Amino acid sequence: MSGLRNGPLAPGIAFITGGARGVGNAIAISFAKEGSKGIALVDIQDDATFQEGKSAVEKYGTKCITIHADVTDESQIERAVAETVKVFGRIDYAANFAGISGPLTAVVDTDTNAWRKVIEVNCVGVWLSMKHELRQMIKQDSIEVENGRVAQRGSIINCASVNSIQSGAGSSGYTAAKHAVLGMTKAGALEARSKDVRINCVSPGFLRTKLLDEEFMKATGSSMLGGPEGDAAWKTFEDRQGRQASFDEVGDVVVLLSTPRMSLVVGHNVVIDGGFTINEMPS
Ligand SMILES: NC(=O)c1ccc[n+]([C@@H]2O[C@H](COP(=O)([O-])OP(=O)(O)OC[C@H]3O[C@@H](n4cnc5c(N)ncnc54)[C@H](O)[C@@H]3O)[C@@H](O)[C@H]2O)c1
Repeated sequence: MSGLRNGPLAPGIAFITGGARGVGNAIAISFAKEGSKGIALVDIQDDATFQEGKSAVEKYGTKCITIHADVTDESQIERAVAETVKVFGRIDYAANFAGISGPLTAVVDTDTNAWRKVIEVNCVGVWLSMKHELRQMIKQDSIEVENGRVAQRGSIINCASVNSIQSGAGSSGYTAAKHAVLGMTKAGALEARSKDVRINCVSPGFLRTKLLDEEFMKATGSSMLGGPEGDAAWKTFEDRQGRQASFDEVGDVVVLLSTPRMSLVVGHNVVIDGGFTINEMPS
């Protein structure tokens, strides 16, 4: 025997909130490329977006189901977990990436209900997802691990952001929610480790997804992806990040962090930002 590892890196079942498009869908594609046997995309998107996200996953031969569920409604996320288990029997890797940017306005100008909404989706939604994924994972047997390594009944990756560490003017709701994701990840991880479940979070830098495009357009009347104002803002972010990032760069980190090879990584915040947060200068 050569002792070399072979076989798929992530053969289990993945459950991804916000999975219909953007970073969540990139994570699903990364799981498919690493041999996942089944993937559930959980989102509130329209049928066309769901279909596009599902086709992108199925290209790699992975069975993919779509579940329309709002992460802010406990009964809906509970149903999404149950439906996935009904189809695939278990959930090995959960990634909680449903999110919105919320209002990009100063505290004094921000509508209170809009502020509450970003907390509801990005903080309460992640907590509810984590709660019901964890309830399922602690009931199931471990996925296969190498001899001598600890069991892994499941892995949960929550989506934080560089805003879990730092902030920017006009992002009080988003920043509060992402700091909270980091906090709940640490507490949850300490509870879950004795049950053979690892919980971590990741903090992506700046990616040109529709998340920012739509909210930026609403907030400023211009597009984050187009127009001189949007381009100037992105240039500042990307200069500090070093370059433009691609969605699959986040997807691959989430998959690697989900495997039992990361057995001692617990309650960690993996920053995926090309050096943005350690860079005090714009470039
Ligand atoms: N784009 C970035 O630069 C960036 C940086 C750091 C972190 N993030 C985080 O990445 C995650 C994914 O965002 P994205 O950039 O891919 O944006 P996106 O808008 O493309 O994807 C977010 C998805 O979440 C879904 N969603 C929103 N509210 C939901 C709800 N209540 N229930 C179920 N699904 C819901 C949306 O329908 C959408 O498909 C978010 O948590 C975001 O905060 C993004």
